[in-house]
Amino acid sequence: MSSLESDNRPGPRHVAVIMDGNGRWAQARGHPRTVGHRQGAEAVKGVVRTAGEFGVSYLTLFAFSAENWKRSAREVQDLMGLLRTFVQRELDDLRDNGVCLRVIGDRTPLPEDLQDMLARAEAQTRANRRIAVTLALNYGGRQDIVNAAQQMAQGVADGELGVDEISLQAFGDALSTSSLPDPDLLVRTGGEQRISNFLLWQCAYAEMFFIDKLWPDIGPDDVHAMVETYQHRRRRFGAIIGS
Ligand code: FPP
Repeated sequence: MSSLESDNRPGPRHVAVIMDGNGRWAQARGHPRTVGHRQGAEAVKGVVRTAGEFGVSYLTLFAFSAENWKRSAREVQDLMGLLRTFVQRELDDLRDNGVCLRVIGDRTPLPEDLQDMLARAEAQTRANRRIAVTLALNYGGRQDIVNAAQQMAQGVADGELGVDEISLQAFGDALSTSSLPDPDLLVRTGGEQRISNFLLWQCAYAEMFFIDKLWPDIGPDDVHAMVETYQHRRRRFGAIIGS
């Protein structure tokens, strides 16, 4: 198919990204891992900008997993610092460029000043409609599912929800991503091909795209490649299409 033909096909509305390879990027250059994360944050800025230009309406970034606490205290501290700097420095730009910033995941163990900053950023960008950028922080897909199950079990215990009302729709509505459509495309950089407890329920029908490049090296051309790759996929959702 020519790129002209593929340009007429819908691009992904929601792209979810596992941003992997910061540590290796730094180590390959003889730097501490933090330098890779810093460069990774630069890549985030570029990808947010380019994704908007390519018509992506929802971008969900796995910035800190529930399992990332297992890293050294130093690395965790550096990542929290980077998130702080990112919100501080980029908030005005994000707000002025139509970005609605949201956070999913359990933010209660995050440093309090960071929690406050994130809440302010969410409040100040809530009305923006160009692109919704969701940061998954201290997020785990299994944890999300367990929380939703607990929420519904509580509803049943309180007599507010019938067991037969626990439907796919109701379950989806109880997840932290209830305001987002399911991802159309899940991208993972850094050469690994696994989902690592990211949006497990939500990615049931997502197209997968694995890129060998390390996250800090990702630029506009790669975002273009993501969109184009998606446009060449045939999504069937379990049905048989064509012959
Ligand atoms: C995985 O690379 C990446 C992370 C655990 C953190 C992602 C964080 C950023 C991109 C920067 C901060 C984010 C924002 C939104 C400002 P890795 O360290 O596991 O890399 P490796 O596999 O090479 O070790």
